[in-house]
Amino acid sequence: MSIQKQVRRTTAPEILARKGGEPIVSLTAYHAHTAALADPHVDFLLVGDSLGMVMHGYESTVPVPLELMIMHGKAVVRGSTQALVVVDMPFGTYEESPSVAFRNAAQVMKETDCGAVKLEGGARMAETIDYLVQRGIPVMAHIGLTPQSINVLGGFKTQGRTKDQWQLIEEDAVAVSEAGAFSVVLEAMAEPLAARITDAIAIPTIGIGASAQCDGQILVMEDMLGLSPRVPKFVKEFGNVGAAIEGAIKAYSKEVRARTFPEQAHTYALKSESGKPKSKG
Ligand code: KIV
Repeated sequence: MSIQKQVRRTTAPEILARKGGEPIVSLTAYHAHTAALADPHVDFLLVGDSLGMVMHGYESTVPVPLELMIMHGKAVVRGSTQALVVVDMPFGTYEESPSVAFRNAAQVMKETDCGAVKLEGGARMAETIDYLVQRGIPVMAHIGLTPQSINVLGGFKTQGRTKDQWQLIEEDAVAVSEAGAFSVVLEAMAEPLAARITDAIAIPTIGIGASAQCDGQILVMEDMLGLSPRVPKFVKEFGNVGAAIEGAIKAYSKEVRARTFPEQAHTYALKSESGKPKSKG
């Protein structure tokens, strides 16, 4: 077997092997250039269907089509060389049956060259997770707040804040772990429940709004950069990129209106017949 390009990416089994060890670091990425910036600093990049809301202006992730995930998945794979790339399966592409899920997940993997897919749901998705894993598709599960079910949940609500909710969520965690998922995202979950789940299951838990008790963390990159207009309580803004972008655009606009940009340094002069510029600049 010949390998044309030397790319050594983190693999799904390597993420699984990190259970209980050094925290797993991850971020969402939707484009080649942000993937390239994050790649050396994270263990995996998630092409999350949150891109529908963050980049495309949808009110929820429900309308996101498979083609959009594939397009952004390809960009993130092209932009990165080290991190495992995980692509979200969007709503309606995997719930119907294990074979429908396989067909769509295989398309995602073939067309993007990503290393794994993520899907939402606990016990109800266990059979599908097993089916995909048996057929060569590594699966990251996602339980707790599952945004694709927003119309059933009635909003983006924190999960497990009262103990009567715990049993079902714990059963979900055990079910996806036993079905063969290599890790599970715990979203918007009370800390003691996240801690219990992390202790109870054999696969790494990746928290987003689920406390420091998880085996790893993920955030939406635009949220932690300070690019999102509204962020949930669990987001820490590590940068103020939105303000920096706006400041730069304002300065550009002012200079164009004042005719102070472009300057001589940004301008092409006519070439002389000898091929050298006629005048300086
Ligand atoms: O779509 C997404 O970005 C996600 C993360 C919030 C985990 O699923």
